[in-house]
Amino acid sequence: VVKFLITSSDEFQNAAKAELKRIVPGLEEGETLEPGLFLASSPHSKAEFARLIAESHPIYVRHVFPLEIEVDLQNNPKDLTDMAELVSQQAQKEGWQPGDQFSVQARLVEPGMFSYSPFAIKEAVASKLIAANGLQENIKAPAQVVSVVCAGNRAYLGLSTPQQNLSGWAGGMRHYAKRPEQISRAEFKLLEALEVFDLTFPEKGTALDLGAAPGGWSRILLEAGLKVIAVDPANLDPRLYVPGLEHYRGYAADFLKKAESEGQTFDLICNDMRMDALVAANLMVEFARLLSPSGFALTTLKLPHETKKLKPATVASRAINILEKGYSLVRAKQLFHNRQEITVLLKNA
Ligand SMILES: C[S@@+](CC[C@H](N)C(=O)[O-])C[C@H]1O[C@@H](n2cnc3c(N)ncnc32)[C@H](O)[C@@H]1O
Repeated sequence: VVKFLITSSDEFQNAAKAELKRIVPGLEEGETLEPGLFLASSPHSKAEFARLIAESHPIYVRHVFPLEIEVDLQNNPKDLTDMAELVSQQAQKEGWQPGDQFSVQARLVEPGMFSYSPFAIKEAVASKLIAANGLQENIKAPAQVVSVVCAGNRAYLGLSTPQQNLSGWAGGMRHYAKRPEQISRAEFKLLEALEVFDLTFPEKGTALDLGAAPGGWSRILLEAGLKVIAVDPANLDPRLYVPGLEHYRGYAADFLKKAESEGQTFDLICNDMRMDALVAANLMVEFARLLSPSGFALTTLKLPHETKKLKPATVASRAINILEKGYSLVRAKQLFHNRQEITVLLKNA
């Protein structure tokens, strides 16, 4: 039996647990360290477990690592040398070779309870691996990752590849630097979708941006060299009124009628309208007729908060079923920058 530490968004923790049980036969749910961070055990080896998960492209499971070392913490500097020593032994056991490139990703649950920072843990473990094992630290593109989570008086550690972890970021928490030209926080959702779905924009063509205001996605699409039709009854950021961008100041359903009568098509259709997931999915299916044969569509689906009666994942799968009437589904993911929503990548059916 191998134990794993799983991260999802706190709101989608139950969806992540249900999804894992479907993917991994024999999975046993373990303790929850905080909402969105929980243990699970599986009869599979860490490689097999990772393969099962990676191949099924989970929507709600954001990050996974195998739990190989547990340390009782005293909340003093000895914790750091204990962790470093045990990780060094484990790296040797797993056959890590001198020169192998690693990074350490440390997280604290309730950081205020600890007398040290994640950075101090990272420093202690990394310097031990460099000095004792001859390994090389490579934060940007490591071949292996040491994951550390400290919660209460316990530390949970494991060694795995970024692929096995499903993300190269600690807990799958992808952070982007703010830039002065940024128009909205929503931009991060689009950037993360491009990265997670391994997507590149077409080199030229026209993108349709539904629910565009204030215009973050439109800004990125323009920057990528695309012409943009931004559809929204609300105002766009004044910086967006440049050649290449057309603002249709109205509702998506009205724009659809106009575009269809004019025989317009698009190489890319994006949708971030604030709208119930099922309504959005039905509308997106209508728009599928305007997508060029090689084009793709990217849509967010806004989900309800979980109640006893209503499961957001159930609404999401219903919405995806609707979308599949007009498109073929490529991937769906609850991204780090998605709040109460998921992002879906579609291509022409
Ligand atoms: C979350 S914001 C979009 C943010 C945008 N992606 C960005 O990067 O700045 C949602 C937008 O959907 C628009 N919206 C809601 N219903 C709409 C509809 N039926 N047609 C067009 N836009 C709609 C709202 O006016 C709002 O501006």
